[in-house]
Amino acid sequence: MSRAPTRVTTIPLARPVLGEAEESAVLEVLRSGYLSLGPRVGEFERAFAARVGAPLASAVSSGTAGLHLALRAVGVQRGDEVITSPFSFVASANVALYEGARPVFADIDPVTLNLDPEAAAASVTERTRALLPVHIFGYPAAMPAFEALAARHGLGLVEDACEALGAVHADGTPVGGRGHPAVFGFYANKQLTTGEGGMITLADAALKERIDSERNQGRAPDMGWLDHDRLGFNYRLSDVACALGLAQLDRLDEMLVARASVAQRYREALAGVEGLELPCPDCGGDRRGWFVFVVQLPRGVDRDGVVRALAAEGIQSKPYLPAIHLMSFYRERLGCRAGQFPVCEDVAARSLALPFFPAMDEGQVARVALTLKGLLEA
Ligand SMILES: Cc1ncc(COP(=O)(O)O)c(C=O)c1O
Repeated sequence: MSRAPTRVTTIPLARPVLGEAEESAVLEVLRSGYLSLGPRVGEFERAFAARVGAPLASAVSSGTAGLHLALRAVGVQRGDEVITSPFSFVASANVALYEGARPVFADIDPVTLNLDPEAAAASVTERTRALLPVHIFGYPAAMPAFEALAARHGLGLVEDACEALGAVHADGTPVGGRGHPAVFGFYANKQLTTGEGGMITLADAALKERIDSERNQGRAPDMGWLDHDRLGFNYRLSDVACALGLAQLDRLDEMLVARASVAQRYREALAGVEGLELPCPDCGGDRRGWFVFVVQLPRGVDRDGVVRALAAEGIQSKPYLPAIHLMSFYRERLGCRAGQFPVCEDVAARSLALPFFPAMDEGQVARVALTLKGLLEA
């Protein structure tokens, strides 16, 4: 009798937590007929602002849209420079280009992988208009240092918090609650998802008014449907998405705890592999909001080969993140080249995102860790 081959179930990179609460929240909106510009938008904004301790929030169609509007709100214009991290998702640099400004990269801290405040300070010129630090992989950026730098040079400050919902600074302020615009993303792999979507948290009511107008085709709140007093965009978030966001917000704490415990299991299972670097532990009172579990492979390991070997075992993984300044578009557009940001380049060349989601069970973590260890120790 021939044996049926054992089927290996694939462990995906990410998987959202969606249940009956989300279904009924969305159904309620569908039945109400208010699919957009309805009451759920304000409700989601208020609940989200309260969650991160910010006075105000504006819901937008994506993290990218939020970063674009936030940069405009702090006054970035054509010819300006915006200092940001080369170790980020490409959108945090692209948004400066949308406005005809130049993203100026500075190297990252080798431990937190966030923009290094000293490298940022060394990059300030008379054209610098804003700083755009990124809380990469959910680890809080050194905001007190960036706030001091911004104050010293009169610069705008926008935080890319797209990966950092649930993170907390050493002084107890949640990421997004410091007052200047901070932008969250709600794509399907994020701590909270609305499918696509984003949120800008902030303290300044005048900035919120500008952002709310610009996300809605440049309409002022008291204007009719077809009257516009400034250039705007369609960066609105629908009521369907906001209802989903409200339901997700209700279960956020539970999802964050689950993510943190998956991370802890990985940390234990992958401890002691020579040359393998794990995400930095929380340090000095800063607390990570777990988004991804990204390791750096030992130097000299063939990362593509590891990705292929993991895939053959039914385990998804992804080189994450590539250095922005080495992407072909950035090389051509800004003349970037290898060797400019050695810390970022070393980290980006070795980074690998492993499967990571709240419902990941002990067996799945063990399977990923054992397979990876086996490959590295072979
Ligand atoms: C650091 C960072 N910035 C910006 C974005 C853009 O967000 P969105 O995909 O919602 O436009 C992302 C999303 O992946 C991100 O991870």
